[in-house]
Amino acid sequence: MYNKIVTLTEYLLKEEQKFEKATGSFTLLMTTLENAVKIIASHVKQSGLVDILGKTGSTNASGDEVKKLDILSNEILVDCLSQSGQAQTLASEELADAISLENNGHYMVYFDPLDGSSNIEVNVNIGTIFSIYLNDKNILQPGRKQVAAGYIIYGPSVMFVYSCGQGVNGFTLDPSVGTFLLSHPNIIIPEEKGIYSFNESYEPIFHKHTLKYLKDVKNSEKKYTSRYIGSMVVDVHRTLLKGGIFGYPSDKERPDGILRLMYEVNPLAYIIQQAGGLAFSEKKNPLDITPKQLHQRVSIVMGSKKEVNHYQSFLS
Ligand code: AHG
Ligand code: MN
Ligand code: MN
Repeated sequence: MYNKIVTLTEYLLKEEQKFEKATGSFTLLMTTLENAVKIIASHVKQSGLVDILGKTGSTNASGDEVKKLDILSNEILVDCLSQSGQAQTLASEELADAISLENNGHYMVYFDPLDGSSNIEVNVNIGTIFSIYLNDKNILQPGRKQVAAGYIIYGPSVMFVYSCGQGVNGFTLDPSVGTFLLSHPNIIIPEEKGIYSFNESYEPIFHKHTLKYLKDVKNSEKKYTSRYIGSMVVDVHRTLLKGGIFGYPSDKERPDGILRLMYEVNPLAYIIQQAGGLAFSEKKNPLDITPKQLHQRVSIVMGSKKEVNHYQSFLS
């Protein structure tokens, strides 16, 4: 006897049945995202083989224009989501302005098409991050209003992790059949593991509280180890599954850090908090920040509650 296998499609349909007024629009939107990221995944897999890296605007052997993978991923997402008719507004880290579509879609979708792009050419994991809101005239919504968010990791396996406000579930792509299967039901972030993930090369410009925190971690009785991949989505994914803390704080030269509120921080902070963790940007939960602009950057620490509280204890 086989264990019951649940596909992402089955899961989405089952979830939809819980909402009396569901029209199927959200399921269609998620299915579109699923298809788009499968296409991106297949390009990522070939990125070491085809001459596709770092060459926007140049041509490949067959005379086609070749594109950097992050630009290509952006186009795949924009094309698929535009055609789906379920989203009226799209906004991407790769586009200066939001795209307004003329349709009856119910949603606004924000995304970082490829996060960790500096890792592409060295064959290190990267991902796509997405954030979904209900339509609103004001596209600068606080993260608290997200109706769903998630990410896809292109690694040894391709994983699709999302939440629509009722916990976090992870699906792993079975490449032989091309289907995402529920592999990580109801993810809860572990509390105990001491992994900290900061780019410590910024020590010369870190603020005092971050320096004090890092020193304390290294001298603490609890055993800590350091991991930093440099793809936020992957560092946060490890934090979600193993516990610990990820941080890209503000520093003396970058008052808001570098990570983008709407494309990176809000969706990942939503996932971490749905899994029982904490996220913290300077004095508040990033989900409570009303953005002033689409590409706004914010400082962030997120992870297991105790670890984030520990960092906060160094802020006077
Ligand atoms: P992107 O590839 O979408 O531009 O994002 C890169 C980001 C993020 O993924 C990562 O955590 C951070 O840049 C790494 O920055 P540092 O090299 O300064 O550590
Ligand atoms: Mn990014
Ligand atoms: Mn990116």
